[in-house]
Amino acid sequence: MKKVLSVLLALIFTMQLGISAFAGFNAPRLSREEWDELYASLCDGNELPMLCVGSDETEVSLVWHCDKETATPEVRLAKNMAMVNAKTFKGVTTEAENDYQLVCRVTITGLEENTTYYYQWNTGNGWSAPYKYETKSFTSHKALVIGDIQIGGQSEDSQIQSDVGFNWNNTLAEALEKNPDVSYLVSPGDNTSTGKTADEWQTLLMPEAVRGLPMALAIGNHDKKGMTYNYYTNMPNEYYGKYFEGLDRDFWFRHGDVLYLFFDATSADAADHMAMAKEAVELNKDAKWRIGVMHQALFGPGYSGLDPETQILLNAVFSPIYDTFDLDLVLTGHSHLQGRSHFITESMVVGRAESGKTYTDPKGIIYLNTNAVCDHGSFSGSFPYIAYEFSKNDVTTYTTLEFEGNTMKIETRRGDNSELLDSLTIEKTKEQKDDMLLKRFQRFLYKVVEFLGLVYMRVDAIIVKIRGGHF
Ligand SMILES: [Fe+2]
Repeated sequence: MKKVLSVLLALIFTMQLGISAFAGFNAPRLSREEWDELYASLCDGNELPMLCVGSDETEVSLVWHCDKETATPEVRLAKNMAMVNAKTFKGVTTEAENDYQLVCRVTITGLEENTTYYYQWNTGNGWSAPYKYETKSFTSHKALVIGDIQIGGQSEDSQIQSDVGFNWNNTLAEALEKNPDVSYLVSPGDNTSTGKTADEWQTLLMPEAVRGLPMALAIGNHDKKGMTYNYYTNMPNEYYGKYFEGLDRDFWFRHGDVLYLFFDATSADAADHMAMAKEAVELNKDAKWRIGVMHQALFGPGYSGLDPETQILLNAVFSPIYDTFDLDLVLTGHSHLQGRSHFITESMVVGRAESGKTYTDPKGIIYLNTNAVCDHGSFSGSFPYIAYEFSKNDVTTYTTLEFEGNTMKIETRRGDNSELLDSLTIEKTKEQKDDMLLKRFQRFLYKVVEFLGLVYMRVDAIIVKIRGGHF
């Protein structure tokens, strides 16, 4: 008996060694047949979990749907696949979008850096299989940025959902194979097509890769058409403000030296956007980098530069916030065109940002627009503030942000073969000194924008009511 036991233990130990020696993601590239098989096996459910970024690098959270009768918001975490010495984290249930399920939300805390974990969630019918989640270095780290996942594209067609899911799976596979050191994914919104059906989220959560990749997803105009974002995500530090309505909310999180501010740019609620930014920045004064994330392509490439809603209305609401809090980078999407701006302050180019170069202590903000997973727009015309645009735009691209010491390296690559398209490095050697008098004056002027934003919101709410929904 003892011999059998020791052979078994040795076998388990060897298996675990083998698994932990394989650093990186389980993110298989699938053939169309393999994807179709996976899709067919999962498309009837809505119970796949989403791994979400936590408030900081020591936390992640899990959110999933479960039958009302058996829902138990629990996650087990261990440093081995056999789940020996597992710690159980308990969370809460909240209402679902239907009357037969509940949403389970559990936050895992106390994560250590450079550690391989395995987790299981309570499916309501016992524990799930164990899934690997690796933390990386908390100081130097890399983020992955992919935009407009938009499962379903412009439709509710399940075939198109599956097509987009296939591209989503294989773009992730390519990005994570070449960048096994990524810590989390950031997306500037439009995660779904209609924002109304569970299938869109189920398809988004089908790739094996997302089981080990915490995600931070902004709200886009397509998500805003419905309310499902509310039930399928669990973003940290959600900020509901005084005037946000329905789906609207901002949120923020911190990872190492980086503070991310996620704005719901489908809302012109300037007062609450400013208040969220102020609160997050004050709580994270020591963050070296500040990155904004919003959906619409402010200072984006191609035709998006001519979109008056973005370049006039959203510019008036968001640019002053970004300038006030000296953001380094703003990530956007929406136009399905990939491109990047020069350094911009107060809507003007204040410095060139040529591809491939390093800039030390630059003034101004870089606006980087992601293209899309669902389809690819075509370019027509350009604007002087654009430093780089992927004019071919024939494939989904991905961007990595690598933070090391005093530098942030931004690289954008093709999603099919990782060919480098655009890169830029920013180095910070000194603390930025604020002109407090100017800042106070800017904040005073911004009160006018806050007031007009509220008027716009009220008028927009009436228009949406008459129209019967958001575009
Ligand atoms: Fe959009």
